[in-house]
Amino acid sequence: MSARRYRIQRLRPSDYDELLSVWKRAGLPARPRGRDSRPEMARQVGLGTSIYLKAVLREDGRERMVAVVLGTHDGRKGWINRLAVLPGHRRRGLGTLLVRELERRFRRLGPDIVCGLVETYNQESMAFFAKMGYVRHEDIIYYSKRRSERT
Ligand SMILES: CC(C)(COP(=O)(O)OP(=O)(O)OC[C@H]1O[C@@H](n2cnc3c(N)ncnc32)[C@H](O)[C@@H]1OP(=O)(O)O)[C@@H](O)C(=O)NCCC(=O)NCCS
Repeated sequence: MSARRYRIQRLRPSDYDELLSVWKRAGLPARPRGRDSRPEMARQVGLGTSIYLKAVLREDGRERMVAVVLGTHDGRKGWINRLAVLPGHRRRGLGTLLVRELERRFRRLGPDIVCGLVETYNQESMAFFAKMGYVRHEDIIYYSKRRSERT
């Protein structure tokens, strides 16, 4: 099946349960008591700095989510977060479709640089970003500060 069978739409607060299911089935961790909680996601989806997209497949008269990406822009850079494609739908260009759409929307908003963080174990994701033309930086260490372990 080609990527043309899929449609890209904005994520809505009502997609919450399906979103968590896609992340889980794609093997991505979520923080349902922290920044991925239902109220927190509903807040984030409505922000002008969020471009949260889903890919849906229409089958038997209903649509289901098969991939997702959370795009955020801070006015300076665009960020690709939590990209996930369901295992049965990989290598069909869906990740490419979502990231290209995100890049297009970032361009309209201003940032000329788009970035993503990849954990060192994640070879698939590294191969994906390399194929998408992203430059790998070996000289950067990620720092964060959390108000709680749940965030
Ligand atoms: C990484 C991921 C999003 C890629 O999604 P996808 O829809 O399969 O990607 P695409 O079909 O658009 O792949 C584009 C290109 O990326 C590269 N690529 C993608 N997955 C790859 C893999 N497992 N191994 C090697 N190269 C891969 C290939 O060059 C591919 O082109 P090709 O199929 O013509 O060879 C998907 O594997 C996934 O959801 N992984 C689990 C969640 C995750 O790790 N997310 C990233 C968090 S940073």
